[in-house]
Amino acid sequence: MSFPKEFIWGAASAAYQIEGAVDEDGRGISVWDVFSHTPGKTYEGHTGDVACDSYHRFDEDLNALVTLGVKHYRFGISWTRIFPDGRTLNERGFDYYDRVVNSLLQHGITPWITLFHWDTPQALEDEGGWLNRETAELLAQFSGVVAEHFRGRVTNYYTLNEPQCFIGLGYDIGMHAPGKHLDGEKLFLCWHNAMLAHGLMTQAVRAADPAAKIGLASCGLICVPESDSTADLEAAREATFSIGKFAPMPLFSQNAFLDPALTGHYPDHPFFSSIAVSEDDLAVIHQPLDFIGLNFYNAQIIRAGESGPEIVPFHRGYPRTAMRWPITPSMMYYGTKFIFERYGLPIYITENGLSCNDKLFLDGRVHDPDRIDFLNRYLLELKRASESGVDLRGYFHWSLIDNFEWSNGYEERFGLFYVDYNTLERLPKDSAIWYRSVVESNGEVL
Ligand code: NOJ
Repeated sequence: MSFPKEFIWGAASAAYQIEGAVDEDGRGISVWDVFSHTPGKTYEGHTGDVACDSYHRFDEDLNALVTLGVKHYRFGISWTRIFPDGRTLNERGFDYYDRVVNSLLQHGITPWITLFHWDTPQALEDEGGWLNRETAELLAQFSGVVAEHFRGRVTNYYTLNEPQCFIGLGYDIGMHAPGKHLDGEKLFLCWHNAMLAHGLMTQAVRAADPAAKIGLASCGLICVPESDSTADLEAAREATFSIGKFAPMPLFSQNAFLDPALTGHYPDHPFFSSIAVSEDDLAVIHQPLDFIGLNFYNAQIIRAGESGPEIVPFHRGYPRTAMRWPITPSMMYYGTKFIFERYGLPIYITENGLSCNDKLFLDGRVHDPDRIDFLNRYLLELKRASESGVDLRGYFHWSLIDNFEWSNGYEERFGLFYVDYNTLERLPKDSAIWYRSVVESNGEVL
């Protein structure tokens, strides 16, 4: 047993977080350009203007992938490079991605494209952004154009990355672009339009390339049981899919996205019925998918209480990452199991990793034992899930290289490769070398 022989290992990134070159070759302004340039919105005013300069240094990213020995790379296509104002096609926007895709293929690395990783064109945002159904339609149009362009070269697509975040953090608590504070019907309307976008994107990609394989990348609350008793296990499962009780907001749930996309129904909670939704819309959202992508970082511990599931608080001194996220490896086992048992589709971990206080040591190297220990623990639990029958197909580490961590700017380092932001040089951390041994042995070294 262990990981299946066909299990794939990869690394992931996102366009705005690494590319830079924000005003080259006709690229339009996105909500993240505006937000990051708004005083007080990001750590020390950091922006993605230069980021890791991957737009000019893709060869260095490619070297990083080759060093890791991974055969799969998940990356984003910037909507505003291809449709600068959301509506007008800019063919030049494809030049960079053609180079990326062609070099990956030449090196035997399979591209996995994320179609939307949060960079809505500002021109569309000015008209209301996700409050407008047209945003969904235009994102679908973009997706179809991308799939058409890459037909025969790219097969695998993810539609939306984490609507829980771009709507929740962007339109509810305002911590991410566009920094809005909506609630009730308006917030649900944004959510519903994002769900429609997923459905319409799936249709558009399939129409452009019938051979395409399509999934989504979801996040949100995962609960793990305090013990392996059946009562705790069932409490953790119930809490994972209960809306709004254990997560900071109703839409920060896996099933806020996965239920409508995979079953055609919104969860039974007032938030999701704040506006009447037509059966036709639900049918658009509910498209046949090939796989589920899960972005897994940390979980909530739950026990069976007298009157239902209850939270087990993290004890004093509980292990945490540099970002203060609790370290909860068993989510890889329970989270994938709960989701597989509920939806029955193959699963890819589309993101997993952590930020550490990485720095150059006196010997000129970046030693990150915390990352190696974290990954070893999480991947062992993933292996346990795979051995127990969860249909796990692959794992993409977040992230290939350090990058722009949204409102935290460059302060948080998630990469297997260290980026020196003065020289933009990429340097393998110890974890990169370690991850290579995991990839080479298909997880046997864990
Ligand atoms: C989820 C997001 O998809 C990614 O953009 C972000 O950098 C990581 N999580 C880490 O926070």
